[in-house]
Amino acid sequence: MKKALSSIVLAVATASLPVLAQVPPLPQKAGYKVGFSQTENNNPWRIAETKSMQDAAAGCNWTLVYADANGSSAKQVADVENMIAQKVDLIVLAPREEKPLVPAVMKARRAGIPVILIDRNIDQKVAQAGRDYVTFIGSDFVDQGRRAGEWLVQATGGKGTIVELEGTTGSSPANDRKKGFDGAVAKAPGLRIVASQSADFSRDKGRQVMQTLLQAHPDVSAVYAHNDEMAVGAITALEAAGKKPGSDVTVVSVDGTADALKAIVAGKLGATVQSSPFFGPIACETARRYTKGDAIPAWVKVEDKFYDKSNAQAMMANGY
Ligand code: AHR
Repeated sequence: MKKALSSIVLAVATASLPVLAQVPPLPQKAGYKVGFSQTENNNPWRIAETKSMQDAAAGCNWTLVYADANGSSAKQVADVENMIAQKVDLIVLAPREEKPLVPAVMKARRAGIPVILIDRNIDQKVAQAGRDYVTFIGSDFVDQGRRAGEWLVQATGGKGTIVELEGTTGSSPANDRKKGFDGAVAKAPGLRIVASQSADFSRDKGRQVMQTLLQAHPDVSAVYAHNDEMAVGAITALEAAGKKPGSDVTVVSVDGTADALKAIVAGKLGATVQSSPFFGPIACETARRYTKGDAIPAWVKVEDKFYDKSNAQAMMANGY
């Protein structure tokens, strides 16, 4: 297992919630049938997350029922319903979008199956940890956006124009990374976001969207991508347009993939805020505590590192 539990801070995001009666309990027993619902499995971040869950399952006495939603929220709802029909003991859900997955979580609760959310959250206006699901295990996406924005303000001296490549529309990392970043750069009046468009967290869409936006904004001086895959795609588009990423255009993103760390060392990517995909050990430990009746915080917060030219080479082994 790549990440030690010591790197994780169990933080109470709101108040420390006692385990309320509404969340179905998870009885203590020798082994569990656990559904893991993944949004898609076609990029390094997702592949690392799935592997982390599979590796942890073995040591946690979990028999994993795995489903890949292939980038479709509708399929993910059906996947969760299928897990409910199979009477799994627990569902670990990485929800693709905030709103569409809420009914599936409620359905699991009604069926007496506890749900642990990992990586992305669901709509907090209607669903609550401790009542509808056990907890959310994940990063602070608003803070990731803020850290990327503050780095960019400093790297550019607070001057220039930015293209923002957003993640999957309706997903919590896209909403929150935008909020944190836009708030940070708004404090630098000389730095302006001239275009902000979704490229669905995908490398090839990042390349295509960047190529299109370069036609309207040929003099753009910075790119903020909500993940490394889109940043790598944008770097390809910039180079195809005869620009030098790293000198003509400053690029910053989020995730900490191996390709991003290599791009930092090559001088093409300025920085990336880590977003850890290694949820397996934390999900296992949280479920174990839940079976014992421990109070679980509403948000089990994952602490993320930051990579730039000062540490990317030394941290290369952290890439995935
Ligand atoms: O939910 C986390 C995000 O989803 C990662 O940043 C991204 O790479 C993935 O697709």
